[in-house]
Amino acid sequence: MGKRFVDLIQWKKDGKQLSDREIKQMIMDYTQGRIPDYQMSAMLMAICFQGMSDEELTAMTMAMKDSGKTVDLSDIKGVTVDKHSTGGVGDKTTLVAGPIAAAAGVTIAKMSGRGLGFTGGTIDKLESIPGFRTDLTNEEFFRNIQKTGICITGQSGDLAPADKLLYALRDVTATVESIPLIAASVMSKKLAAGCDKILLEVTTGSGALVKTKEGSAELAKRMTAIGKLAGKETTAIITNMNEPLGYAVGNSLEVSEAAAALKGEGPDDVMELCYTLAGEMIYMAGGGKVSSAEARKTAEQKVNDGSALNKLKEMTAAQGGDVSYIDNTEQFGEAAFQGEVTAPQSGYIIRMNTSGIGAASGMLGAGRMTKESSIDFQAGIVLTKKTGDYVEKGERTAVLYANNKERMESAKAHMEKQYLIGGSKPEKEYLILDRILSGD
Ligand code: URA
Repeated sequence: MGKRFVDLIQWKKDGKQLSDREIKQMIMDYTQGRIPDYQMSAMLMAICFQGMSDEELTAMTMAMKDSGKTVDLSDIKGVTVDKHSTGGVGDKTTLVAGPIAAAAGVTIAKMSGRGLGFTGGTIDKLESIPGFRTDLTNEEFFRNIQKTGICITGQSGDLAPADKLLYALRDVTATVESIPLIAASVMSKKLAAGCDKILLEVTTGSGALVKTKEGSAELAKRMTAIGKLAGKETTAIITNMNEPLGYAVGNSLEVSEAAAALKGEGPDDVMELCYTLAGEMIYMAGGGKVSSAEARKTAEQKVNDGSALNKLKEMTAAQGGDVSYIDNTEQFGEAAFQGEVTAPQSGYIIRMNTSGIGAASGMLGAGRMTKESSIDFQAGIVLTKKTGDYVEKGERTAVLYANNKERMESAKAHMEKQYLIGGSKPEKEYLILDRILSGD
């Protein structure tokens, strides 16, 4: 007779390895409702403490990928590339780097997620454009990719359903921040989504799920190794999330900043990171025919000649969105209530607690408090100062936007606690920390 699930939990808790068969069975039984949440929670917690061997992680990823349908993109001409971020605050890179790469001829077929916890989600951002549809059928997804070379839709419910269930459970059992669990979650979805090549943006720092550089490097290595095993070229770029990316945090605010970036007018960090990510996708799709430096240059050209902005507009139109909002982002309007966060003392901004800023944005209405709650697309934060800037006592460091007064008050109080201000200017941190290739 096989082991009871309680015995497997004990086994894992004691630091012993689960077999391929046990993991497959576990994922199948949980997805089909045969393992209750309380037992799966205990198993996830045991994994958090004991980690997973490479064999266990591969088995878990493949079982999660196979828990639902997989997408077959083989009929699509050209090299298809998918990009995924492990989550951040103000991270609008998909909205910028995707259209840049598509303008350079890379086929971007992407299924994105919604905001989770303090992190934002591409689908929520896109839905802030009136009419924009993210619930495309498979046929529409394929048609749009073929027509415009780029489509970003929501993840369909039958793609890696095990991840959907496990993620919701992890979210409420303090088991999100586990390197193997993140790796299996991300890679099961990416493998199920069927692209030829995968670019991972692995964030690190106070606004990331994994806070240390060492942890993020390990996550990147484990994910690229899974990609290699599955026969998919996978590259990871480790990026600094010790402060929000750009100035805007919140859905329509971030679309506005992304549109500005595609017009060549984005903040320096947004431009730099998006050129790097788009360049990497162009390089990967080129299969060795273009150098990294040429790919990066192409990315810059596609912004300068306006073709990347046109790609975002084409994609928006193809998905039912009102393109005039990209041309004139003032149409998004401003939320009814605005508040200011000011510096409690003079000095340099030494550090920001970025996850706290993401949480404040959520409190304003830009994120969900429960799975069911709706989003206020206009809510969010525009930073007016960033790390390393000097501020006078009482000077404004951020503007908050909300359509609900109570939310504004509580977010403001929370936001004020997220800065460390001191007498000496902090050293400038690198934005792009490492590049890890499949099998490094
Ligand atoms: N993003 C995912 O898709 N899954 C995780 O577990 C964390 C970030």
